[in-house]
Amino acid sequence: MGKTAFITGITGQDGSYLAELLIEKQYNVHGLVRRSSTFSTERIDHIYSDVHERGQLRLHYGDLTDGQALTNLVLEIEPDEIYNLGAQSHVRVSYDQPVYTLETVGVGALNVLEAARLLNRRKHVRVYQASSSEMFGEVLETPQRETTPFNPQSPYACGKVYAFHQTVNYRRGYDMYASNGILFNHESERRGETFVTRKITRAAGRIKAGLQSKLYLGNLDAKRDWGYAKDYVEGMWRILQHDEADDFVLATGRTESVRDFCRLVFEQLDLNYEDYVEIDPRYFRPAEVDLLLGDASKAKEKLGWTASTDLEELAQIMTQHDFDLAQREAHAKNFVPN
Ligand code: NAP
Ligand code: GDD
Repeated sequence: MGKTAFITGITGQDGSYLAELLIEKQYNVHGLVRRSSTFSTERIDHIYSDVHERGQLRLHYGDLTDGQALTNLVLEIEPDEIYNLGAQSHVRVSYDQPVYTLETVGVGALNVLEAARLLNRRKHVRVYQASSSEMFGEVLETPQRETTPFNPQSPYACGKVYAFHQTVNYRRGYDMYASNGILFNHESERRGETFVTRKITRAAGRIKAGLQSKLYLGNLDAKRDWGYAKDYVEGMWRILQHDEADDFVLATGRTESVRDFCRLVFEQLDLNYEDYVEIDPRYFRPAEVDLLLGDASKAKEKLGWTASTDLEELAQIMTQHDFDLAQREAHAKNFVPN
């Protein structure tokens, strides 16, 4: 029988790709989903219908902030591996909802570690914590690596630093297998539509299809190290297969600005971004992270992991996907039933 994994955040971008990967690897996958008045499982519905009969994917209602229910669930499922991907993951929103963000990102991670500690008394479990390059904030060294000091710039980043240290403390204090993946930005056609790359590819596709005329953005000069989410979930899995628990940076080693990404996407549709992009100060952040650039040489050496999709390819995948989507939208809009 395959291993059992428990994924928090399974309905998100990374959770959906990770569930696919683990199912391919014959895992039994359990996922935590939040109850909401409309379904939030769009990214995983296709997996569910494929493997439902084999019972390889099971979803459980819960919330990272409800530690008692989370512990009960973990003790019942008895996973071999836990991937804690759940979070209020939007940096800008974390300024509007700082306490809630800290409850999910910080206390939520602690709840997962506590549940794992209790399970660990009777069964060995490995925990992956979704740490973030945002922890480097106003960077103190470039490129950023595992030894670079953290200097967080947002409530979200402060929560991730807290969760990072708790993960290390549980590893040391309770001799648990608990690892941090410090992941730089990674995107995809499943990226939430308010993150900048997807906001750009969605808008460019809709502009090309005649559905939208402008794209309003904030700081175009911020630079990010952007990779493809599918490559990064492979890295998460490799982190938990390593013989000992440790912390790893996953990154491409290349940084580009938001402006560069706009240019790349609009050019693929034979458009000039300067004709469509306008600045709206509402999208500025109280404190900005100006530059992120990761050094993933430890992951390359110890895990054999590298990011295999470059920025041009990533932009192409996302732009094509979102142009197709916009064309379907335009078609539906113009469709007049007999
Ligand atoms: P995402 O698409 O925003 O997904 C977040 C997931 O967390 C969703 O499934 C969401 O559920 C769930 N969630 C939110 N609040 C929750 C709560 N209180 N209890 C339980 N689940 C909750 O994020 P992502 O891009 O896949 O990122 C995955 C993880 O990696 C996050 O922890 C993020 O902070 C971290 N990270 C991401 C990146 C990146 O570039 N993508 C880089 C570094 C680290 P709903 O569907 O119900 O909202
Ligand atoms: N979201 C957004 N919307 N960002 C904008 C916009 C806009 O209209 N205009 C400019 N930006 C800039 C932001 O100011 C930021 O500098 C950059 O684009 C990237 O913003 P996001 O795509 O929202 O991502 P992020 O870097 O803040 O955070 C993402 O990556 C982190 C890893 O470094 C998230 O996925 C986090 O969860 C993750 O930890």
